Amino acid sequence: MSASGLVLEAGGAADLDAVMRVMEDSFDPAYGEGWTAPQCAGLLPMAGVWLTLARDGGAIAGFALSRVIAGEAELLLLAVGSKRQKSGIGELLLNRFIEDARRRGARQLHLEVRDGNPAVRLYKRAGFSQVGRRRNYYSGRNGELFDALTLARTFDD
Ligand SMILES: CC(C)(COP(=O)(O)OP(=O)(O)OC[C@H]1O[C@@H](n2cnc3c(N)ncnc32)[C@H](O)[C@@H]1OP(=O)(O)O)[C@@H](O)C(=O)NCCC(=O)NCCS
Repeated sequence: MSASGLVLEAGGAADLDAVMRVMEDSFDPAYGEGWTAPQCAGLLPMAGVWLTLARDGGAIAGFALSRVIAGEAELLLLAVGSKRQKSGIGELLLNRFIEDARRRGARQLHLEVRDGNPAVRLYKRAGFSQVGRRRNYYSGRNGELFDALTLARTFDD
């Protein structure tokens, strides 16, 4: 995928530092949605896990971390650096997740997102709908708790 210099490509452990910079720059710590470097490093080598980078020249503008297990794919993290948000990069990464998941044999897609995160609109536009709620799933910087919505989408064909 290439649009105005932006390229989507597979990433790996060597990109973790750059991914963490985007993580820290995108997720608001008030909500506790971002992951730590050890959490990402632990997950990356696991079977069925893949990282997609949105690269603009040398810089990583955004990323998606995903996993597929037994016909079900999960979008674990989606983030775009604060200065690059709202220019379509998140949607490109989300669409790539959907394509990759299908190619990797998923019939069902799911993700968790904080209730109130504006990303819910993006996911609903891509065909996801709410199938559940996990109460007090995220713990924010000040110990405040936030619900997660579970969103899912199936492939029609
Ligand atoms: C969610 C995120 C990845 C979207 O990336 P993006 O490149 O800004 O998204 P796009 O430009 O492709 O699409 C923007 C759409 O996302 C939604 N959206 C996401 N964040 C938004 C925000 N802060 N304000 C308004 N709309 C937002 C809206 O639906 C918007 O489209 P619309 O304005 O037409 O309604 C990005 O905002 C981000 O990194 N947020 C912080 C991390 C996060 O919360 N990730 C999601 C949970 S894992």
